Amino acid sequence: MEPLTSLPLTEWAQAPSPPERQQAIGALENGQVLFFPQLSFVLREEEKVLLSPSLSNGRAKNISLDPSGKLKHIDVTPGQHRLLQAMMERFARNSVTLVSNLIPGYAAKLERARTSYRPAEIAGRKYSAVKDDTRLHVDAFPTRPMRGRRILRLFTNINPDGKPRLWHVGEPFEDMASKILPKVREPIALTPLLLAAVGATRGVRSSYDNLMLGLHDTAKLDENYQRNTVHNEIAFPAGSTWLCFTDQVMHAALAGQFVLEQTFHLDIDVLAEPARAPIKVLERMTGRVLA
Ligand code: SIN
Ligand code: FE
Repeated sequence: MEPLTSLPLTEWAQAPSPPERQQAIGALENGQVLFFPQLSFVLREEEKVLLSPSLSNGRAKNISLDPSGKLKHIDVTPGQHRLLQAMMERFARNSVTLVSNLIPGYAAKLERARTSYRPAEIAGRKYSAVKDDTRLHVDAFPTRPMRGRRILRLFTNINPDGKPRLWHVGEPFEDMASKILPKVREPIALTPLLLAAVGATRGVRSSYDNLMLGLHDTAKLDENYQRNTVHNEIAFPAGSTWLCFTDQVMHAALAGQFVLEQTFHLDIDVLAEPARAPIKVLERMTGRVLA
């Protein structure tokens, strides 16, 4: 499988042609990265002061903007706060417009989740293996149970020095799951309720969430898997944009600095082919209902 499908859009509000729409849906649901080599997010002159890792308070990997407009993990002056919030809000709105125009079938159920700004260089950062995104993984978050819903993410490289963002894209989801799932241990049944009751998770974690967290952690911790699996190297140039289901595409970010990212959550009933969603794949593999 080709890891990438390219579309020649140049504007965030551009309406794609019907064949382009079909191509986009097919690529995304098939587990490819949809690449927009000519779609850039341009900072305004006064926003260029935001191109600095010092805006982050260092307590999280990224600066984030939640859909209510609240910025988190920042260390900024009131002036920078205003600029950062306006810039990230503009990027979030552009992202919603792009995805809604590209796949009108998703638009009704497309939930705008967090927006993030990633001003730190990735190469050389030190994290524990489980938090280390230079290792191939599918996204799954301990605090955000998805119960089978999808994680769709849009990334834009805004590096001012022309530096690409370097990714590895791994094997198809089902191939990964067939190797890793047998090694995943599910926690005992009481734990999800307990975590929700003490406020550690937003909502109750389903078996699907446990398995996805298990796949995320087990794949990252498996040195042998990391060394020997497929690594398609992709360099996303400065000034380009890409979109993929990060709960399905095995991905790792190796190097690069200054990326904006928009997360969407999506119900699987609006997919063209819900049977390709990770929850359906895992239900077939385990013979169980997972959410
Ligand atoms: C990730 O989602 O694992 C990191 C992607 C990136 O920051 O480029
Ligand atoms: Fe990730």
